[in-house]
Amino acid sequence: MKKSQLCLVCTSKTIQENIENIEKYKDRIDCIELRADFLSPEEQSVLDKFPAFTNLPVILTIRRKSDGGVFKGTEQERRQLLKQGSRGDYAYIDLETDFRDEELEASLKSRNIKIIRSFHDLESVPGNLVKRVKKIAENKNEIPKAAVTPKSTSDLLAFFEACRELSHTEKIIIGMGEFGVTTRILANKTGSMISYCSVPGQSAAPGHLDPITMTTLYRFHRIGKHTKIYGIIGNPIHHSSSPLIHNRGLRDLMIDAVYVPFLTDDVKSFFEIANLLSIEGFSVTIPHKEEVIRHLKKTDQHIEAVGACNTVVHRGNHYIGTNTDIEGFISPLYTYFSPDEMKSMKATVIGAGGASRACVYALRKAGMTVLILNRTPAKAKKLSEEFDTQWGPLDETGFSRMKNFCDLIIQTTSVGMVPKSEQDPLAAYKFAGNEFVYDLIYNPKLTRLLERALSAGCKVLNGEEMLVAQAHLQFKLFTGRESLFKNNYLSDFMRTEIPEM
Ligand code: ATR
Repeated sequence: MKKSQLCLVCTSKTIQENIENIEKYKDRIDCIELRADFLSPEEQSVLDKFPAFTNLPVILTIRRKSDGGVFKGTEQERRQLLKQGSRGDYAYIDLETDFRDEELEASLKSRNIKIIRSFHDLESVPGNLVKRVKKIAENKNEIPKAAVTPKSTSDLLAFFEACRELSHTEKIIIGMGEFGVTTRILANKTGSMISYCSVPGQSAAPGHLDPITMTTLYRFHRIGKHTKIYGIIGNPIHHSSSPLIHNRGLRDLMIDAVYVPFLTDDVKSFFEIANLLSIEGFSVTIPHKEEVIRHLKKTDQHIEAVGACNTVVHRGNHYIGTNTDIEGFISPLYTYFSPDEMKSMKATVIGAGGASRACVYALRKAGMTVLILNRTPAKAKKLSEEFDTQWGPLDETGFSRMKNFCDLIIQTTSVGMVPKSEQDPLAAYKFAGNEFVYDLIYNPKLTRLLERALSAGCKVLNGEEMLVAQAHLQFKLFTGRESLFKNNYLSDFMRTEIPEM
């Protein structure tokens, strides 16, 4: 199977703007699709001239609304434009399965312009996907293209199963929408001849990534038959920083592997995808950290203690799990406190959810005495009974109890996170200045709570070190190698001057 080509979809109103975009990304892409339905009418009138402006192969497409395009004219006008465009030096022309024009097709053949015969399903992954692609492929002069829309993890499974059945058929096959993003990154695994991307802010289809993300973050062109797949499951997922950290780690060590986000609404179906694609390991985030446990062959004492799993690895034909959040949380504290010091420390933990649970477990294991404060006191009480701690409400009563538990204050709720970064879960608490304040939030880097603590003279720590520390442990479990992760990975990775490697 030939390597998949990365195609920049040009959706500007003018040919000039499209040319400028091509110039910007020409070193990262292999071909171009001119979406002439986006051109203004004056520009459409010269669309046959477009291919002469670039050395890259160009696909001509004029997409109707019903197929996800923006062409406003009649079908007759579209036909005329296609005919006019076909006089230019296009390498391919995209014609839908229900579009036929013998004269046009004969002229394309004589000019060696290949037809991409496409169909679109904007709502689902159709049950007859394989059959439809194979039917088009019967005509050796045409390349079948299917752009379909997985709306769930089980749809995505059906998509990957179809790709497997079509592994010996030359085709373009794309999963659109949020669930389909992974299919665009993994085109070299699905066997799609082309994967499409867009200029940032000008996405031509739901789920398009931009050329920098495709090539710098996911190293699109490097993905091949032997490339190992790692990933992260969650819902939502596309805001996650883990792909930035892990892919950078893989690149630093020149490991032939990619780490991709899987939007997941059904863990069971995801395990089927994992088996189908031979996924070697994956991170697990909200809301699947508990559900995933039921599907594992083996768990460890960390999972048993906190009832949550954030790391799954493939070992001896099975998936087994662990939780690196616990050590990821506690390890940054060893920079500031010795194990002996920790044994005599008293800590307050704000929140009583999943994150709090991992922290409380780690703090108790380190020998600290702990007070848990929570908006819903009953949950704090329940957690305290499990881990033998004090508890209280997140109000004046609780704050007054903190006096004896303020060597370390740990904030585990999402209060103060972007976009609600003005919030402070401890607004009524006055820092004395000698507390060490650890907020698990990393976006923003300095929450309102940490800002107040800093200005009172406290030492502070945000969640970035924990994020990186837990990822470091995962990386080692995934690859068997020590990562070179640093805290500045998040901020410096996506700088555009990083070349494709
Ligand atoms: P996680 O796994 O991230 O800890 P979780 O299990 O849903 O998520 O727990 C969220 C924690 O944040 C809980 O302690 C929750 O308090 P409640 O138990 O009272 O729900 C806390 N939390 C969420 N929003 C909050 C808010 N606006 N003020 C105070 N606490 C809040």
